[in-house]
Amino acid sequence: MKKNITDVAVDNKRVFVRCDFNVPLDENCNITDDTRIQKTLPTIQYLLDHNAKVILASHLGRPKGQAVEKYSLKPVAKRLSELLGRNVIMAPDCVGPEVQKLAEGLQPGQVLLLENLRFHKEEEKNDPEFSKQLASLAEVGISDAFGCCHRAHASVAGIAQYLPLAAGFLLEKEIRFIGGAVDNPQHPFAAIIGGAKVSDKIEVISNLLPKVDVMIIGGGMANTFLAAQGYGIGKSLVEADKIDLAKKLIEQAKTQGVKFLLPIDVTVAAEFKNDADHKEVPVDQVPADWMILDVGTKSQALFAKELASMKLIVWNGPMGVFEMENYAKGTKSLAKAVADSDAVSIVGGGDSVSAVNKTGLADKISHISTGGGASLEYLEGKKLPGVEALADK
Ligand code: 3PG
Repeated sequence: MKKNITDVAVDNKRVFVRCDFNVPLDENCNITDDTRIQKTLPTIQYLLDHNAKVILASHLGRPKGQAVEKYSLKPVAKRLSELLGRNVIMAPDCVGPEVQKLAEGLQPGQVLLLENLRFHKEEEKNDPEFSKQLASLAEVGISDAFGCCHRAHASVAGIAQYLPLAAGFLLEKEIRFIGGAVDNPQHPFAAIIGGAKVSDKIEVISNLLPKVDVMIIGGGMANTFLAAQGYGIGKSLVEADKIDLAKKLIEQAKTQGVKFLLPIDVTVAAEFKNDADHKEVPVDQVPADWMILDVGTKSQALFAKELASMKLIVWNGPMGVFEMENYAKGTKSLAKAVADSDAVSIVGGGDSVSAVNKTGLADKISHISTGGGASLEYLEGKKLPGVEALADK
């Protein structure tokens, strides 16, 4: 068991909190989606309620070791001030004498946000000296940065050598749900894997196949599996070099008694355009010069029926070209089926998360992960450096 925020004394202490405030910004540096900030509020509020001096740290974008204004965390400080209803002090940097002074001068109930950690190349190099400097700012270490736990960076992993880390509420929840699904799943358990390419998800499928009762495959990657079963898929996206692997995975599912579900009907279009001619056809009737862009109505009903009796559902990746309205139906209908089921449901990956948000069903999902790459690697069964770095209870 890993240590959590409630296991450490924070009263009157300087507490370093690694957050993932890597939020999307528009061209004027306005935050376009503050989910990651919102999800860290319980941890920050807990610290404030317990009289701590709060030092927040994050990266934003990929400035590659340079101080670049457009990657400044200033917009995050502004948003946090609004959300917390108190001033958030913006530090000019994340290390150095001035920052040290600001940190040491904090009073209980004050919040300091350090400037982008990746303005220093040492962050991504997991440089021990840099980790030590970050650690020296505080007396207690908390990590709530699930989104970058797959990165062995100084503030995520290296710092733990100098400042023991306990999990904040968000990281604790991510570990409990995703870690729980991978290590100790309830049954019946269904995994829904979508997205464009099989190659992006091979390791997730291989890791989950021995654990699940039902595996549902959709999105562009389903085409490669359909091709492996001998269907004509017209001009659809396909990974020809992965057809043999797809055959093996289908065989493996059979041997292990896993129900492996592919689309039985599909929406095909004449071109890769939202307003192109499109129609639904059974999976064995894809016209030679058309392409598959979504799963069809019968497949949606089939998937929903299976999901209704599950106790645990993990979903990663859209069922079709979700960005185009005409091919978003499969993903939206799946979001509804997941939300309607009584199962513990876990959704990860940018597109499936935005599908759930767009359908207004987010509060019916047990856990929506804040991690993209991190949730994928966790589902692949990999050990995440940022989780490994947490102190044991
Ligand atoms: C993310 O957005 O997935 C995390 O913040 C990690 O960002 P990175 O891929 O730039 O390391």
